[in-house]
This record gives sequence, structure tokens and C-alpha cells, in this order.
Amino acid sequence: MCDFNPVQREIHRIVLTGFMGAGKSAVGRLLAERSGWEFLDLDTHIETATGKRARELFDTLGETGFRQLECDLWGRALQRRQAILAPGGAVIDKIANQILLAESQGAFVAFLDARFETLMERCLQQEREEGGTYRPLLHNAEMARVRYRERRVLYAKHAHGVFDAAENSPKVLAEIIWEAAFAS
Ligand code: S3P
Repeated sequence: MCDFNPVQREIHRIVLTGFMGAGKSAVGRLLAERSGWEFLDLDTHIETATGKRARELFDTLGETGFRQLECDLWGRALQRRQAILAPGGAVIDKIANQILLAESQGAFVAFLDARFETLMERCLQQEREEGGTYRPLLHNAEMARVRYRERRVLYAKHAHGVFDAAENSPKVLAEIIWEAAFAS
């Protein structure tokens, strides 16, 4: 668990991390409702800020360009107060993003954890039902598994709390994360 950034006494924002399908957006919206804080889904924010869809940005900027844009907006998002932040699952890959997270004073970082198979199944189900989120990794199961293994270590290392996102509903998760953020 978070070995670089002890949880601060005063919490200004909650950051939800985890692999795709962990429920960051669903839990984030519920946390925002519960707290009256704003909710910022970084993927949606990138699209709103640029007026372009993620797929289009990927195509025009390439993955490196897209990740740089994401990094810039991530840094700014981490300065918001009374905010619930849900970055895309890949944000933790970049060292610059990890440093921004570590340096975010007053952030409580909650890692939503679940088994790889559970998460992939959920994402495929979401894709069938909603179409929505652009997830290039989703149809490359081999690569997704490698990324999952690598990122899981990083999510855990950079979190103040790890929460079981398979056993708990989004509503329960929102409740226990809020309590954990303000405990002690
Ligand atoms: C990604 C996860 C997505 C989105 C993009 C990349 C990934 O976000 O940012 O498709 O590589 O894991 P979610 O974690 O919100 O699905």
C-alpha cells in the first residue's frame, strides 16, 4: 500500500484507480452524489476539453501524443478541491502521472481491485450494452492480461486503500471509500 505518500489529515479529493471495468465511473458518480463534490471522469474530460472523441485523438496524435495530453489534464485535475477523480486505467503506466499523484496534497487514493476475468467479462458486457468507452486494450486479451499484472502492482503501491470491486456493489463501495477517506 501507499509507501510514498501518507494520507493527509485534510482530504480535498478522492482518486479512484483500477483496471478498466473496476467501476471507477459508477462509484465516482455515487460518491459525488453522496458528498456534493464534483465528479471528473478523466476520459470524458479529455473529450470535453478538446471537443474530440478519444478514438479520434488517438488516431491524430498517436498513443504518445494522447498520453501527453492526458498527463497535462491529469496534473490539472489533481489540483481540484472537493472533487472525485476517475482516471482511465492506463494513467498509472506513466511515471510522470505517478509522480503527479504522489504529489497531490490532500488526495485519498482508493484502488478498486478485482480479478482479471471478472473485469474483462464486465467490460465486454458493457460494450454490448452501451457501446460507450473507447477501450483499445479490450480486444487484445494477451496484452490486457500483461497490463493488468503490471498495473495491479502500481495501483496497490500508489493507493491509501484497496477495495474489493467484485464483492461490493458500487453503492457499498462509495460508502466504504468515503468512510475510509475520513477515518482517523
Ligand atoms: C484504458 C482504459 C480506459 C481508457 C482507455 C485506455 C486502458 O479507461 O482510458 O481505453 O488502457 O486500460 P477505463 O479504465 O475507464 O476503462
